[in-house]
Amino acid sequence: MSSKTNTAPTPRRPVAPALDRIICGDARTVLRQLPAESVHLAITSPPYNVGIAYSDYSDDRTYLEYREWLRGVWKALARVLRPGGRFALNVAPTSIKNFRPIHHDLTRDLIEVGFLLRTEILWYKQTMGRRTAWGSWKSPANPHVIPSWEYVLVFSKGSWRLEGDRAEIDITGPEFQRYSDGFWEIAPERNRRGHPAPFPDELIRRLIKFYCYRGNVVLDMFGGTGTVAAVARATGRHYLSIDTSREYCELARERVAAARAEGTGPRIPAPDRVEIAPELVRRRRVRVGHRTE
Ligand SMILES: C[S@@+](CC[C@H](N)C(=O)[O-])C[C@H]1O[C@@H](n2cnc3c(N)ncnc32)[C@H](O)[C@@H]1O
Repeated sequence: MSSKTNTAPTPRRPVAPALDRIICGDARTVLRQLPAESVHLAITSPPYNVGIAYSDYSDDRTYLEYREWLRGVWKALARVLRPGGRFALNVAPTSIKNFRPIHHDLTRDLIEVGFLLRTEILWYKQTMGRRTAWGSWKSPANPHVIPSWEYVLVFSKGSWRLEGDRAEIDITGPEFQRYSDGFWEIAPERNRRGHPAPFPDELIRRLIKFYCYRGNVVLDMFGGTGTVAAVARATGRHYLSIDTSREYCELARERVAAARAEGTGPRIPAPDRVEIAPELVRRRRVRVGHRTE
């Protein structure tokens, strides 16, 4: 017998499950490692480049660098979305005095990358009770308008339709009627859990039920404290949540694990750990090697 025929096949290392993961890493790099056409719906809110103090990201690039960076993320996203897959992007105009309508620029960038623009949802946050910046009070000299709303820009990849199993639709008639009116009054999240800008659950629940089927895969590549992943799990969808901050990823893991199933959809596993993307592990090793940590 030849040694060749004697050799038992090398046991393959178990492959990490491709779904239901909280991944600590850079959005674009991790997206490039995910299987093509594997995501039905992406929902995200990127950093707005307004100097917010995130735990692990500097939110103050030049505007051109910022858009160029995001363009790279949109291209990586286009690869992982299924044909007909959706992308719901939450953004807001920034600054009152130097009004910058970043939603216009990002819409143009996404169309240039190849996405179809489906619609704009206006998320009215009802925050005017706390306002203080009037500009010239009671005078036309220089009055300010405060953006008390944010946008959810919704795109499709390649086709308007998303095919799916009708038995996995969970939106009710009244919900459908309400959500298809694009003016959504939802208060901002009160419980920030140590994060400067978390989504309110209700915003995400509406997007998920309106735009995808139970059992689909929902992604947030700037996942923060895991609101999208937690609501996805609760509503019977698989989730993938990516963020550069270990602190936020750990919060996300706890939150997703605590999410209670709503309704009778598929039972989605809890994340067993936060996965650290290989490039972050390498970066840490180099830093430790140079005794900078
Ligand atoms: C607006 S917050 C998202 C908050 C999230 N929607 C939630 O409900 O908690 C943007 C997030 O992007 C993360 N971030 C910044 N740069 C990143 C990058 N290159 N890759 C992945 N995440 C990044 C920040 O740590 C921050 O948590």
